[in-house]
Amino acid sequence: MTWEGTKGTFGFSSTDNNGKAIDIYKYAGRDSIIRECEASLRRMRTDYIDLYQIHWPDATTPIEETFEAVLRLKEQGKIREAGVCNYSAEQMKQADAVCKLVSNQVPFSMVERNIEKELVPYCIENNKSILAYSPLQRGILTGKIKPDHKFEEGDHRPKTPFYQPDNIARINAFLSIIKPLAESKNATLAQLVIRWTIERPGITVALVGARNAGQALQNADAINIKLTSEEIDYINKHLYALQLV
Ligand SMILES: NC(=O)c1ccc[n+]([C@@H]2O[C@H](COP(=O)([O-])OP(=O)(O)OC[C@H]3O[C@@H](n4cnc5c(N)ncnc54)[C@H](OP(=O)(O)O)[C@@H]3O)[C@@H](O)[C@H]2O)c1
Repeated sequence: MTWEGTKGTFGFSSTDNNGKAIDIYKYAGRDSIIRECEASLRRMRTDYIDLYQIHWPDATTPIEETFEAVLRLKEQGKIREAGVCNYSAEQMKQADAVCKLVSNQVPFSMVERNIEKELVPYCIENNKSILAYSPLQRGILTGKIKPDHKFEEGDHRPKTPFYQPDNIARINAFLSIIKPLAESKNATLAQLVIRWTIERPGITVALVGARNAGQALQNADAINIKLTSEEIDYINKHLYALQLV
């Protein structure tokens, strides 16, 4: 839940559709949760939302307050299920004690596996779904990014650790090892990576971004690829040998 104003935790600066600078705040106070849900229902012209996800934890609001409001929405039939985004296992536990959670939407990819330390075991044990976002690590896991890649102005990717030239080269070296496996299945690297992601223990959904319709169609087709456990072990053996700087 983001809130333009001075309430909540400062998130980041962005621009609106007219290019005007705005500061984004994460505000999960009771008033905001209720108001934002009702505004979403109006915008989508629907009576209920299947899965209502609280987008970021807000350090200025007790988790109990946020989820009492979410529980109220559920009791009123405005949402069917409650989920979170970017919550730790501990934060999920606190929220779940107030209102049953079904899911957490968190970053996860072949090269970004931090959630496997605590969050994945918690979710498996407690039957919570994980929606893995940025499973292509914003494009680098398609193999199309080279160390001299020219990014558009304003593209945040070159500032992230995965997109430093050394890491691009290392990730591409790993991808070149698994590319023949993709080719043997008439699949692209993107499709192989997406399929691997969905097969990963605890991962329920891969939330893949697409710049255009072609990418969206190609990515959706990843569901038709089958990976044997030996093939997954082969990918993992080489993945675990990949060291980033
Ligand atoms: N909850 C959160 O805090 C949060 C945060 C981030 C994202 N998300 C969600 O996660 C979704 C996906 O994340 P994401 O877009 O950041 O990362 P992603 O899925 O890892 O990468 C998407 C990018 O990969 C490239 N790509 C995708 N399919 C391709 C293909 N078949 N061939 C070649 N390149 C391809 C495109 O890059 P190019 O632009 O270079 O073509 C695209 O913009 C988003 O739509 C968003 O809903 C949630």
